[in-house]
Amino acid sequence: MRLGLLTGGGDCPGLNAAIRAVVRKATVSFADEIVGFRDGWHGVIEDDAIPLDVARCRGILPRGGTILGTSRVNPFKVSGGVERAMATLTRRGIDGVIAIGGEGTLSVARQLAESGVPVVGMPKTIDNDVNGTDFTIGFDTAVHVAVEAIDRLHTTAESHDRVMVCEVMGRHVGWIALYSGLAAGAAIVLVPEEPFDLAVAAERLGRRRNIGRFASIVVVAEGAKPKAGTLELPPPEMDEWDHERLGGIGAVVARELEHLTHLECRFTILGHVLRGGTPTAFDRILATRFGIAAVEAAHDGAWGEMVGLHGAVVSRVPLSEATGELKVVDPGMLHGVAGIFLE
Ligand code: F6P
Repeated sequence: MRLGLLTGGGDCPGLNAAIRAVVRKATVSFADEIVGFRDGWHGVIEDDAIPLDVARCRGILPRGGTILGTSRVNPFKVSGGVERAMATLTRRGIDGVIAIGGEGTLSVARQLAESGVPVVGMPKTIDNDVNGTDFTIGFDTAVHVAVEAIDRLHTTAESHDRVMVCEVMGRHVGWIALYSGLAAGAAIVLVPEEPFDLAVAAERLGRRRNIGRFASIVVVAEGAKPKAGTLELPPPEMDEWDHERLGGIGAVVARELEHLTHLECRFTILGHVLRGGTPTAFDRILATRFGIAAVEAAHDGAWGEMVGLHGAVVSRVPLSEATGELKVVDPGMLHGVAGIFLE
């Protein structure tokens, strides 16, 4: 087969491991040819591609980012984009496309598959918000980086008896905030799934202060929202694809908590640091397993499906099940597990 491969949306650690696995599996097991489209769907629309083989993929397993480049270009939002993308695939004799991406890229994959384009999806995003898989490529690394940073904030917080507010990415879900907050022993975690009231958070911080000289860590997801009428946030900026550009709530939360508690507060925004650098072993293995499964899916003609992790098993789900609705944090995890420690 001649397979097209692309990475779309925000980059994350583990993409190169996935590319390498696709190339290895396709060439070693099936003698396929792999065409790597540059910058996500943009490369398909513009016919911008490079050949990929085992030699080109040497040394990329531990490297962050993506050797193919990425973008949030959506052929359905570009004039003539779908027609041009389809023409590229026909001209190049592409038998199928493996699209590695998050909600945006995979939604395009679903729409194209519905129009008859042979596409298989692979889920990646540090946000872990894609349905149809327990974990996405990149999430584990982002949590790992956040935990290391919060551990460092802990020691300086203890020396000064301060409250440290740490803002993490995650867009409209709180997976990174919850996992990193739990793993790093945060006193408070604020996630988009449950609007917060800083008066409640301040009371909790005060209680901790009264029973001992405890430094406290507050992890806030960039997309966390205050309960209506409790806190004014500046209106969000929009990017060229009409997505909210998030980031900055950590400063507002720190300022307000200092005002409410009279405890000294500082804030740190981890931002894109969570997306950079080398992937964890978990992400390398997940990406490798997904890469192999995606090539097998293409050879089975499982177009319109996505590979995903279900328990310990990698299997397929329809892209229609994986997209459309975001995977939000599990309330059992938020209240059952975190509830015990976040008091
Ligand atoms: O979806 C991944 C993500 O890192 C989000 O957590 C974040 O809100 C967004 O991308 C940032 O996008 P950009 O890199 O375009 O600023």
